[in-house]
Amino acid sequence: MSMPDRHRRTDLPASVTIYEVGARDGLQNEATVVPVEVKAEFIRRLAGAGLSTIEATSFVSPKWVPQLADADDLMARLDSVHDLRLPVLVPNLAGLERALAAGVREIAVFAAATETFSRRNLNRSLDEALDMFAPVVVEATRAGLWVRGYVSMCFGDPWEGRVPVQQVVGVSRRLLEMGCSELSLGDTTGVGTPGHVHALIGGLVAAGIGLKQLAVHFHDTYGQALANTLAALEVGVSTVDASAGGLGGCPFARSATGNLATEDLVWMLNGLGIETGVDLRQLVDTSLWMAAHLGRPSPSRVVTALAAARAAG
Ligand code: HMG
Ligand code: MG
Repeated sequence: MSMPDRHRRTDLPASVTIYEVGARDGLQNEATVVPVEVKAEFIRRLAGAGLSTIEATSFVSPKWVPQLADADDLMARLDSVHDLRLPVLVPNLAGLERALAAGVREIAVFAAATETFSRRNLNRSLDEALDMFAPVVVEATRAGLWVRGYVSMCFGDPWEGRVPVQQVVGVSRRLLEMGCSELSLGDTTGVGTPGHVHALIGGLVAAGIGLKQLAVHFHDTYGQALANTLAALEVGVSTVDASAGGLGGCPFARSATGNLATEDLVWMLNGLGIETGVDLRQLVDTSLWMAAHLGRPSPSRVVTALAAARAAG
């Protein structure tokens, strides 16, 4: 069976935008640096499978994330890929300058809901990090770029423990006031559960933040990513971050593992009759190809099951 049976649930969004993060969130976490031509081919294949929003890389300090030090070269190789949204992470004005020179049209700044993770990921307190992002968002907007704001550690923090909903609401409001068009709610270490997802999104909506401004970004450390995604769809969120083959993690958060696998997400959305524009077969081919490059199997259940079904004929 290569497709689930379809059972439309009319209480869920009719279509979902998948924001593919494998090339950035996935490859930033590899022990070795993936060659730039392999990264470019990975992104071309993801686009070929129908993904239209692909976070390509990060214009961060190469000392902090050597795995993505080739960001300028990578973007030059993707010049010919048209009609594709290729956002990149940008922490500061130096990164914005590089991104603009590379012809980038969409960027993401990345704040945290907690002080400890802000210091570990950005070498800045939460306030200092937001002060670093503010001119980036202003200058990027002036240059006509679209800007997303991530909020990491929305559901719990390995150093600080519980993260109150109102702490996430505070950072989210500051990113929107700064000029971000979309917020991505990060469960960096995958500790969230569906009731918590409802509580957090409920808190953001009660604070006047629109559902159209929200995306969810689940890591699958505790196997909750798909359940949490369904919970987000139930309250009306329709942009979901995922990573082909379940690649991913964060080098500055010990306990982070891969993101929700895009294949697992597409399988569920196909079964729910929700449009994504993604060809699951081509996507699985792409993740198998990347797994061969990385020398280990994909952790995605759907990639594993479909590959086994194919092998069995
Ligand atoms: P710093 O060391 O405090 O800053 O880092 P600095 O200004 O002293 O810079 C250090 C060196 O980097 C200097 O070089 C700068 O010129 C250079 P030196 O003078 O020593 O030769 N530099 C740069 N070079 C190129 N491009 C730049 C740049 N900036 C500085 N943009 C900084 C501060 C913010 C730069 C650093 O902490 C950093 O780059 N952090 C990035 C961390 C990162 O990428 N983390 C992973 C992404 S976040 C994530 O994965 C979570 C997410 O997926 C959501 C979720 O799951 O929750 C988004
Ligand atoms: Mg992440």
